[in-house]
Amino acid sequence: MERAFPDGFLWGTAISSFQAEMGAGEPSDSTDWWTWVHDETNVSVERVSGDTPLEGPGFWELYEGDLRLAREDLKNNSIRLAVDWGRVFPEPTNGVEVDAKRDNWNNVWKVELEKDDIKALDRAADHDAVERYREILKCALNYGLTPMLTLYHWPIPLWLHDPIACRDDMDSTDRCGWISQSTIVEFAKLTAYLSHELGDLVDLYCTVNEPRIVSEHGYLTRRGEFPPGLNDPSLFLICLKHLCIAHGVAYEQVKRWDKHEASPLGPSTVGLVAVLQHYEPADPSSLDDAWMSQFIDYAFNEWNLNAVFHGDYDMNLDQVVEPWEQLPHQVKGCDYLGVNYYTKWRVRHRKTGVDPLLDYEFAPCSGDCTDYGWYIYPEGLRNVLRWAYMRYRRPIYVTENGVADMEDKIRTRYLRSHLDEVYKAISLDGVPVKGYYYWTLMDNFEWSDGYKIKFGLYNVDRETKRRTPTKAVPVYREIAEKNSL
Ligand code: BGC
Repeated sequence: MERAFPDGFLWGTAISSFQAEMGAGEPSDSTDWWTWVHDETNVSVERVSGDTPLEGPGFWELYEGDLRLAREDLKNNSIRLAVDWGRVFPEPTNGVEVDAKRDNWNNVWKVELEKDDIKALDRAADHDAVERYREILKCALNYGLTPMLTLYHWPIPLWLHDPIACRDDMDSTDRCGWISQSTIVEFAKLTAYLSHELGDLVDLYCTVNEPRIVSEHGYLTRRGEFPPGLNDPSLFLICLKHLCIAHGVAYEQVKRWDKHEASPLGPSTVGLVAVLQHYEPADPSSLDDAWMSQFIDYAFNEWNLNAVFHGDYDMNLDQVVEPWEQLPHQVKGCDYLGVNYYTKWRVRHRKTGVDPLLDYEFAPCSGDCTDYGWYIYPEGLRNVLRWAYMRYRRPIYVTENGVADMEDKIRTRYLRSHLDEVYKAISLDGVPVKGYYYWTLMDNFEWSDGYKIKFGLYNVDRETKRRTPTKAVPVYREIAEKNSL
């Protein structure tokens, strides 16, 4: 029986700037991530792989061919891509004075820009980079691909974040990235400027990609793989809180500065992208594992959504929102929820007794695993879609879902089985899922793990940049073309 998706469903792939752009043409070499993956200490202690984005797929130059593949070969009607903050503003924008209001708790609350501020930002911007993003977006539209634009997919300019100084001694620098609220103010400027400059080409925006991953892998990590590689629960929460505030601030900027309709979607639909995974106790008979699994689900899946949708900032993680943790004025809006889903984690309690955030660990995958050692667990996707919709009541896009599969043995099964769960979420649970983006279009730079991890629907030869389809390409093409499974 044919299982049809709703009319107007968006079928796409997702890519991100730092992971896909470099490899041909101008590198983007003034971000924290660039410095992070090139740092010799990081390489020698294996925080990072030693690979560099310079051998990436080169989307910055080769975008036309990639967008053609997305349209003509995959029959997609959308693509999710990101802007690199460091390309647009390689030089500081903190000299552009704007009105940044603080709330009673001294959190940045409202950032107001005027036309003159946009002009001042324009003087600071790299016009070639902005023009290139315009060309990329126009090309997508010409191919009939609705662009979904991510405003922040992780690297931030070095002038805002010195990850090495922070790693070695946070007190030695005032460039502390998301730990500092001034980064929220600069993000407001970036998002105001981008929606002003690109708004005629974009209607669908993601503010922040995965607040939890940036916070966890940067500030709550034993390996120290993401900048600045610290392991401090209080910094994890500060980062998470600031990214949720940053979502709200960006939401307001896009609504204010993008007045153009690039498509029937209307001028701007703006959402947060959260990674929602399935968590379960490693040992179902252990009360400690059950508690820890519930706690991690709360801290990792729920916390950032409660903050963005309800203004609940549970800073002591006791799962009770005291009056001082309620910031309803920070709720600015979220038109849809972007859900990134990959896997399930089996959670174990380590019982060191120091801090629950330092006490969890994930049991290694056994059985049906990907190259990343992640479980293949399609049912989890339906669960998180249903849970998120029941709780937050917004339309949902599956903004990422994909598999690390070097030998091309499981991608087709992974894709089909996860789409089957999306279909069930829509047709049986009534979840308004509006689109699905496979992660990722072509093999790219997998952050601290470099090139050994391959998520791409197309493999990329690192020398010649030639794209070769994996077995999942004809499968995804047929599904997208027929709008049904
Ligand atoms: C991120 C991507 C990443 C993917 C696979 C997601 O958390 O948004 O940038 O490549 O996971 O690890």
